[in-house]
Order: sequence, then structure tokens, then C-alpha cells
Amino acid sequence: MRKFIVYAGVAAALAGCGTPQRSSEQEMTKARLERGRYLVESLVDCLACHSDVDWKTRGAPVVRAGSGGIFPEESLPFKIATHNLTPDEEAGLGKWTDEEIGRAIRNGIGRDGRVLFPIMPYMYYRSMSDEDLASVIAYLRSLPPVRNTPPEARVPEPVQKMLQAPPPVTSVPAPDLSTPEKRGEYLAALGTCGDCHTPIDLKAMRPRADLAFGGGFVLKGPWGTVASSNLTPDPSGIPYYDEALFLTAMRTGHVKARALNSIMPWGRYRNLTDEDLKAIFAWLKTLKPVQHRVDNEEPPTPCKLCGNAHGLGAQN
Ligand code: HEC
Ligand code: HEC
Repeated sequence: MRKFIVYAGVAAALAGCGTPQRSSEQEMTKARLERGRYLVESLVDCLACHSDVDWKTRGAPVVRAGSGGIFPEESLPFKIATHNLTPDEEAGLGKWTDEEIGRAIRNGIGRDGRVLFPIMPYMYYRSMSDEDLASVIAYLRSLPPVRNTPPEARVPEPVQKMLQAPPPVTSVPAPDLSTPEKRGEYLAALGTCGDCHTPIDLKAMRPRADLAFGGGFVLKGPWGTVASSNLTPDPSGIPYYDEALFLTAMRTGHVKARALNSIMPWGRYRNLTDEDLKAIFAWLKTLKPVQHRVDNEEPPTPCKLCGNAHGLGAQN
């Protein structure tokens, strides 16, 4: 921000006295607010985890945006609270500095200095550019304040002790958006596609690199029990997708006659521009094929490959 205050000063000096000033700082803030709104309402899904969600309505709209709550994933052996992200001074981020918010988003460090449980997807957000980070923060600060303090629910002490912060990120330059594939890769990181679409090595507590985007990660909660799809171009993945089918799936939550569960955030992704959706599809086509059959229309059976139980698991 300081940089733009300096620019505003220079612009004022150049323009001379008496000339009506349009503050570049104000314009910057407005542009960031718009970019932040676009990102959070389409791709950067802070509010899905940090609000109440209406799981009964398709697309899972958020209720009381940013009010915080208890993370509803049921397969976790403990309950975990998500912080109020509204600008409320007592319950929310009102008294947090931009640096403190940015540190939680990109480096996974809470205000009190603890390492955050990696359900908070800082491993993905660490690639968020400085400008996009500033935009997300500007937008969060524009939410209507909600005075709601979620119940106290912290990661149990023994688990907390095992958590390690990744090497801290201090500055991320603007991404290379020169091709649709590169643009898509950047957007997919902000959308955390890999977080749900890659099964986890439970012993090492990290995503299975050999099964990247291969699906089979099981999500259980008020939305039901559902495994993520294999997004790779392998015959067992989605090689039959074309751009039109992808755009329709993201916009409607339907793949032809099949309805996608609302835990897949199509209810937000539908707000992406055509250009951004097409870029994400272009990137999907570059993924390394992973052979892994997953089908939610079949009953769950144990899968030797990913270690989870999901439709067609026994056939892997
Ligand atoms: C997939 C769910 C999920 C998403 C998406 C998510 N968070 Fe979180 N977030 C969590 C959880 C769970 C915690 C609590 C972690 C802990 O206590 O160890 C958390 C913690 C935080 C904290 C730290 C609060 C504290 O107590 O110090 C902040 C700030 C935060 N998130 C902001 C955000 C922002 C901003 C975004 C979007 C850019 C976001 N989160 C996206 C689940 C999520
Ligand atoms: C919060 C978890 C989550 C995130 C984040 C997520 N997905 Fe999904 N996705 C799912 C689940 C679960 C399914 C399976 C839904 C079903 O079968 O009803 C799914 C299904 C899909 C499908 C349908 C595939 C098929 O079987 O026809 C596509 C395409 C897809 N996701 C793409 C993406 C992309 C691209 C991103 C990132 C921009 C993404 N997903 C992020 C959970 C997620």
C-alpha cells in the first residue's frame, strides 16, 4: 500500500495546486476490491469454510458470509473452528493487520503464532500473488461485520505439536499468464483443486504425488459422503471432457444427466469468467494421466491404490 501512497504524492506534485485530484490510492483500492470480490465469489473459497453453509440448497450458498463456525468435515477425529473473517472488531479480523491476515493465508500461521491445521489450504494459497492477496484482504474488509465467535475448538495438542509450517513466503510476483495453460495452473492453485482431487498419504500427512489429481479423496459431512473425481486425461479420468462440457458442468453442477455434489464448489466456480474457466480446462488437459477408477454412482469398495473406500475402488 505504501507504494501507492507515494505514487499519489508524486501525482499530486506533478498535477500542481488547484487541480482536482483523483487519488490513485483510491482507484487502487477500488480495483482491488473488485478483483477481491471476483476471486472470493468465484474461486478463492474462504467463505465456504469460514461461514454457515446452506447444504440443503444445490450449489451450497453461504449464509452470514464470513461469520466463522465449526468445520463440518466428519471424517476428522476432532472438531475444528474456523475464524470469523468479517471486519467485526471483537469477533472478526477488525483488529488484525494486513500482514497478520496475509501470514495466515500464505504461510499458515495464526495470529497467536501457531501453525494452522492444513485444512486451511495455505499450501495452495502460497502461490497467490501479492496483488491478489491484497485484493482478497480488501474484499474481506468490505464484508458486513458479523459479531459471532465460533465455539472454542482447537486442534488437539499432540496433533498441533506435529504441524510444521512450510518455508515462509514473503513476496509473490504477478503470475505468468502468457498462455491459457499457465493462467489455468495459477487459477487452479487458488481454487485448491488439488486439495480435494488428490488423495492423502495419511502417514506422511501429505498429498500423494503419484496420484496427483487422480481423485478418490473421500469427503463426509452434511453434503453426504462422496469421493472426488479423477481429473486427469487417463481413460479412467475425464478424457471425454471437451471445453463445452467442462463449462456446462462448472456452471450448472451437472455432467449431462449426472448431478455433482455441492461439496464440489461449482456453486462458486460458476461465477468465473469464460476466459478463466477455459484456461482451467486448458491446464486440466496438461495433467499427467493417473490410472485410478472412481465412480460415485457405484457403492464404495476398498481401493488398494489410494487406501480409501470409493465406488469402483475394488477394481483398481
Ligand atoms: C477448506 C477450508 C478452508 C478454506 C477454503 C479457508 N480456510 Fe481459513 N481456516 C480453515 C481452518 C479449518 C482454520 C483453522 C486452523 C487451525 O485452527 O489450526 C482456518 C484458519 C484461518 C485463519 C487463522 C485464524 C486464527 O485463529 O489465527 C485465517 C485468518 C483464515 N483461516 C483465513 C482464511 C482466508 C482469508 C481464506 C481464503 C483466502 C481461507 N481462510 C480459506 C479452513 C479454511
Ligand atoms: C472441496 C473439494 C473440491 C474442490 C476444492 C474441487 N473439487 Fe472438483 N469435485 C469434488 C468432488 C467431491 C467431486 C465429485 C462430485 C460428485 O461425483 O458428485 C468433484 C467433481 C469434479 C468434476 C466432475 C468430474 C466428473 O466426474 O465428471 C470436475 C470436472 C471437477 N470436480 C473439477 C474441479 C476443478 C477444476 C477444481 C478446481 C478449480 C475442483 N474440481 C475443486 C470436490 C472438489
